[in-house]
Amino acid sequence: MSLLPHLILYLTLFTVAVTGETLRPRFYRETCPEAESIVRREMKKAMIKEARSVASVMRFQFHDCFVNGCDASLLLDDTPNMLGEKLSLSNIDSLRSFEVVDDIKEALEKACPATVSCADIVIMAARDAVALTGGPDWEVKLGRRDSLTASQKDSDDIMPSPRANATFLIDLFERFNLSVKDMVALSGSHSIGQGRCFSIMFRLYNQSGSGKPDPALEPSYRKKLDKLCPLGGDENVTGDLDATPQVFDNQYFKDLVSGRGFLNSDQTLYTNRVTREYVKMFSEDQGEFFRAFEEGMVKLGDLQSGRPEMDWQGQKLVEHLMQILLVISGVVAVVVGYATESFRTMMLIYAGGVVLTTLVTVPNWPFYNLHPLKWLDPSEAEKYPKPEVVVVASKKKVSKK
Ligand code: HEM
Ligand SMILES: *[C@@H]1O[C@H](CO)[C@@H](O)[C@H](O)[C@H]1NC(C)=O
Ligand SMILES: *[C@@H]1O[C@H](CO)[C@@H](O)[C@H](O)[C@H]1NC(C)=O
Ligand SMILES: *[C@@H]1O[C@H](CO)[C@@H](O)[C@H](O)[C@H]1NC(C)=O
Ligand SMILES: *[C@@H]1O[C@H](CO)[C@@H](O)[C@H](O)[C@H]1NC(C)=O
Repeated sequence: MSLLPHLILYLTLFTVAVTGETLRPRFYRETCPEAESIVRREMKKAMIKEARSVASVMRFQFHDCFVNGCDASLLLDDTPNMLGEKLSLSNIDSLRSFEVVDDIKEALEKACPATVSCADIVIMAARDAVALTGGPDWEVKLGRRDSLTASQKDSDDIMPSPRANATFLIDLFERFNLSVKDMVALSGSHSIGQGRCFSIMFRLYNQSGSGKPDPALEPSYRKKLDKLCPLGGDENVTGDLDATPQVFDNQYFKDLVSGRGFLNSDQTLYTNRVTREYVKMFSEDQGEFFRAFEEGMVKLGDLQSGRPEMDWQGQKLVEHLMQILLVISGVVAVVVGYATESFRTMMLIYAGGVVLTTLVTVPNWPFYNLHPLKWLDPSEAEKYPKPEVVVVASKKKVSKK
């Protein structure tokens, strides 16, 4: 009988393992052990080619995860039946460096075909962008599935404008269960990268329709921006989001304290009483910023689609059935085994439960297929061919025959 407590522990642990979250660290340990190092290597290459590109890729995590979960939907191009997210209000002429994700995907397909999802690539790449520019490094959870559809309207409705004020941003992030601290820390992502004049014209020349510039702008910084972005000038010209745009550090928060935030949505974090406390804290303590940023990024990466039709309902059903059956047979086995003081009985009942679970969940029973996915029409896909993958200077191995 002394075995019983051990078995209870074992069964509990097993049940926890089976019922645990789908997302987990080192998801590709068996199927593609190189995955994370390949992504890191490709991001390093991209950064050497163009320093800003890693910031641009890091931004994808925000724009992907806020719109129906982290499902790589923002990477999908428009089709005749679907307006993608690439051309939504916040993304058009703004999101860039999609080719870096293409390169990463290509490298991963070579190493482990059809294994690593694009949604996971975005998450790994965002982490690597931060680590490679001097910021913190952390473990990411993986195992996301890619979406087959995207929604331009949802992106338009959800993604915040550069004009947003702190109250609006607090409310928006709260809808995703992200705290005020998470929001301020995540805004610290603007420690790297650039923004367009287009995003700040109103703030330089007509803040809130006043005909005047934003009073929170420090005068010499404003002069600098006026010169970069003159009225009637090219609004595609870009400026740095903080004083050290290639280094992930807390300079962004120091800049906000001195009135040198680039976007209105940045400077407003110091104007607002509630968010100002966090800006001050992060500007004085980089370690605290890094810790809060990691936590925010992990929470952001946990966001899943809220759209039921997007779920693979049959698969969900299987997962739930499996968990329920295993837990029930485990409990019954332990209770009966304890009552009859028979180790054998307990194991037999549990083994029976495992067999039953296997019978119910492994075969592809028809009731798992009540909600077939609407796949894209292949003939339609052919009309919009994917760009050819060009392998540069490939050295063909001489045949050994
Ligand atoms: C708090 C709300 C946020 C707002 C209103 C906002 C808005 C913006 C805007 C307007 C730009 C410049 C785009 C342009 O002018 O073309 C920008 C750039 C950027 N954003 Fe945000 N953002 C927010 C939060 C985030 C978050 C949470 C992340 C990442 C986790 C992020 C990452 C970036 C990066 C890295 C850039 C620079 C991109 C580049 O250089 O290409 N932002 N953001
Ligand atoms: C913040 O923005 C919202 C929506 O754009 C607006 O309704 C609100 O009045 C603004 N709050 C402040 C304090 O400016
Ligand atoms: C936020 O948390 C609540 C309660 O824990 C949960 O019901 C809700 O689905 C969460 N929302 C998101 C977007 O994760
Ligand atoms: C400033 O914005 C307001 C409201 O959007 C508008 O009525 C006004 O004409 C603008 N002023 C200038 C100088 O552009
Ligand atoms: C910025 O450049 C794009 C093309 O890259 C162009 O379509 C767009 O009109 C330009 N936007 C502004 C505000 O000048």
